[in-house]
Amino acid sequence: MRIGVAGAGRIGTMHATNLASLDAVDEVLLYDPVDGRAARVAAMVGPGAAPVGGLDDLLAASDGVLVATPTTTHPDLLRRCVAAGVPALCEKPIADDLGELAALIDEVDAAGVPVLVGFQRRFDPAVVELRRRIRGGELGTIYHVRAIGNDAAPPDLGYLPSSGGIFRDLLIHDLDAVPWLVGEPVVEVYASGSVLVDKAFAAVDDVDNVVAVLRFAGGAHAVLTGGRHDPLGYDHRIEVLGSKDSLAVGLDPRTPLTSLEPGGPTVAPDAYPGFPERFRRAYLNEMAVFVDVVAGRADNPSPVRDSMISLRLADACDSSRRSGAPVRLSETVGVHA
Ligand SMILES: NC(=O)c1ccc[n+]([C@@H]2O[C@H](COP(=O)([O-])OP(=O)(O)OC[C@H]3O[C@@H](n4cnc5c(N)ncnc54)[C@H](O)[C@@H]3O)[C@@H](O)[C@H]2O)c1
Repeated sequence: MRIGVAGAGRIGTMHATNLASLDAVDEVLLYDPVDGRAARVAAMVGPGAAPVGGLDDLLAASDGVLVATPTTTHPDLLRRCVAAGVPALCEKPIADDLGELAALIDEVDAAGVPVLVGFQRRFDPAVVELRRRIRGGELGTIYHVRAIGNDAAPPDLGYLPSSGGIFRDLLIHDLDAVPWLVGEPVVEVYASGSVLVDKAFAAVDDVDNVVAVLRFAGGAHAVLTGGRHDPLGYDHRIEVLGSKDSLAVGLDPRTPLTSLEPGGPTVAPDAYPGFPERFRRAYLNEMAVFVDVVAGRADNPSPVRDSMISLRLADACDSSRRSGAPVRLSETVGVHA
């Protein structure tokens, strides 16, 4: 099988490397408009990778295409993939505006071409197991979910104006994953945020540390916290408390956290420095599942329609953060299958 990668930047390089490690992939093809970039990355990935000169060549030669380009280009590239009948995996978000997203989802559904969204938590073995146990009733009644998403350091400040803000850029991952885990509609959202890391966030009308409270239809709550700086490393955890069990993902010897209890963990020298290390297993599995979907061997675990839920929640968090008031949501925000 030949898999194309559009965009040989930070995450495209990682995905290309992971794709090349899979037995089912014979060749990874790379396209990037920056002169020489695709060839450089192909040489780094190894003999199973090759550059191509344009997007049409990539589409013509690939059984599936991974879209790892800047967010603003995603709708156009996805339309090109589905028009060519080529299954795609697109990095998140596939669109950052609700109107554009709704139109894109309708077009993808009408074309009947599989498109996966790169929400890597859905491919993380521990998160998948957590969902299996929640949905199988092993936790009993869900009381609370706590999701922690701390970047180690802020992104390049030049990226901020186009990021869509912290809820659409950073929290979007947990706004996708947490309702996907719980399996109920969110009926109310309250969010608050501050600028504590860098005044550059205020200059673009954004914040750098946030908390969001989601209330689910059945009465359970989720508290999501996230921020742009953690002095100990990259920390992503989800903890779920139910009437029968209490489970965590992302809590292991590399979690960047120091306990003050006797015998408790102290921060390890190899504490997770960033998302590629923390989600290594998830990204590898994401590529394996993508290849299985392309081959017709697996269902799509991250369909485009689900992005309506996370983006609507991100928009609701943003307006709550600005107004200081909770935002009630209609049941039409929906529930993941
Ligand atoms: N899932 C995750 O954890 C995660 C992490 C980081 C980034 N992302 C997402 O991945 C996407 C890319 O982010 P990045 O950090 O790799 O960006 P990047 O800037 O490092 O790389 C983007 C690459 O795309 C190329 N490009 C631009 N237009 C193109 C086009 N029309 N066709 C082909 N290539 C094109 C650029 O030249 C660049 O090499 C963004 O949407 C971002 O939100 C997701």
